[in-house]
Amino acid sequence: MTKILLADPDPRTQADLRALLTDRGFELDAAADVQQALEPVADGDVDLVLCDLALPGGGGLRLLQEVRALRAETAVVLLSAFGSVQDAVQAMQHGAADFLGKPFAPDQVLVAVDRALEKTALQRENHALRDALDDRLRLDNLVGSDPRMQAIFKTVKAVADTRTTVLVTGESGTGKTVLARALHALSGRRNGPFVEVNCGALPESLLESELFGHVKGAFTGAVRDKAGKFEAAQGGTIFLDEIGTSSPAFQIKLLRVVQDRLVERVGDTRTLPVDVRIVLATNRDLEAAVAAGEFREDLFYRINVVTVEMPPLRARSSDVPALAQHFLRRFAAEHGRPPLRFTDAAMAALVAAPWPGNVRQLENVIERAVVLGSGATIDLPDLPALLPGRTAGAPVPSGAAPGPVLPLRDALAEAERQAIQRALQHCAGNREHAARALGVNRSTLFHKLRKYGIH
Ligand SMILES: Nc1ncnc2c1ncn2[C@@H]1O[C@H](COP(=O)(O)OP(=O)(O)O)[C@@H](O)[C@H]1O
Ligand SMILES: [Mg+2]
Repeated sequence: MTKILLADPDPRTQADLRALLTDRGFELDAAADVQQALEPVADGDVDLVLCDLALPGGGGLRLLQEVRALRAETAVVLLSAFGSVQDAVQAMQHGAADFLGKPFAPDQVLVAVDRALEKTALQRENHALRDALDDRLRLDNLVGSDPRMQAIFKTVKAVADTRTTVLVTGESGTGKTVLARALHALSGRRNGPFVEVNCGALPESLLESELFGHVKGAFTGAVRDKAGKFEAAQGGTIFLDEIGTSSPAFQIKLLRVVQDRLVERVGDTRTLPVDVRIVLATNRDLEAAVAAGEFREDLFYRINVVTVEMPPLRARSSDVPALAQHFLRRFAAEHGRPPLRFTDAAMAALVAAPWPGNVRQLENVIERAVVLGSGATIDLPDLPALLPGRTAGAPVPSGAAPGPVLPLRDALAEAERQAIQRALQHCAGNREHAARALGVNRSTLFHKLRKYGIH
């Protein structure tokens, strides 16, 4: 049953409202002051609060603020016998669902109550929808609603629980490592080890003993038997990063494990079966490497069973707002900052940036802004990496480059206009989608379309 809390010190009002609302099938509770009202609200027992502006213990506005902070989904309707327009405006600004001047007609109260309850029901439904949507747009720690990312999530889910070898390609910072981890986390091997080896970081001789282990005396310095990473990954997943640059000799050894799941410690004659899922990653175009004779063709065919191509961030800028919000929330929490938000200009610049370092660069830019920023918003000056000419070695956003030097206001407006046009292009002219991609609401976008004369 819907519960309404009456927080009004006036016995007449109390009696009138109680009669009116119980008659309508609502359950009623009463509170004489702010403190008393907060208890049932905190317990989540109350759907709606009817509260007098002059409530003892701090006043109705104070109760409204506390309710908003405590349970934003509980609606508050303020009542007042001496209410001014100013009071009403202030109440609405603080999130009141409605404001009624006393004396009020019964119908007025009923309409206000119904409307407030309808709104909260809608809000609840929206939250539920958004949560469901969030789930669909995420995979483990990966955010991505771009169709290509969605296709990748689908592939990952389909193969996670098999032992199929997976090859992940893509530029640096596109999420190859997180994807490998997601694959492991979603597989039946999730309780087994996840072992990561950067094959590009070790000289060949070391790499071999690192992966396959060695026996005592196999080479100078091998003073005892040592298990390799493949053995360490038994029952789990081994992630071989940067395999594109490995030597021919190493590739032969790799072929053997991928093919037969057998490893041989360096200097040993025995072979050891390993039960591991192998995930490999490279930022090289392996097909081209094969053509150039730098990568074994037989190995390529062995590992090219399921290939996941991570798109560069600039090719999926519609994901930038969600990623940016994701990192903003995470870093604000990590660095103990209150919830922060981006200004429209900052978000437009984030969406328009070329991101040569992909998601990793976006993540760094936002962490820096959170750490160094001081206000409640992240604005353009908090994102110096995005200002033209400051992006290390990267092409600046098209159009922002050479051109004339404009007053900052005009330059920002121009960047905003371009970001909007890009978003519209990206979303095939769908304004709703474009607004979402830009992280602004529809009316903001419409306003800006008019401002910039974009049709
Ligand atoms: N789709 C994504 N959603 C959320 N975070 C991501 C995503 N892709 C990458 N990241 C983050 O960006 C950074 C770089 O990702 P990483 O997997 O290390 O890239 P790569 O291995 O391709 O160089 C990591 O901190 C990772 O958490
Ligand atoms: Mg990586």
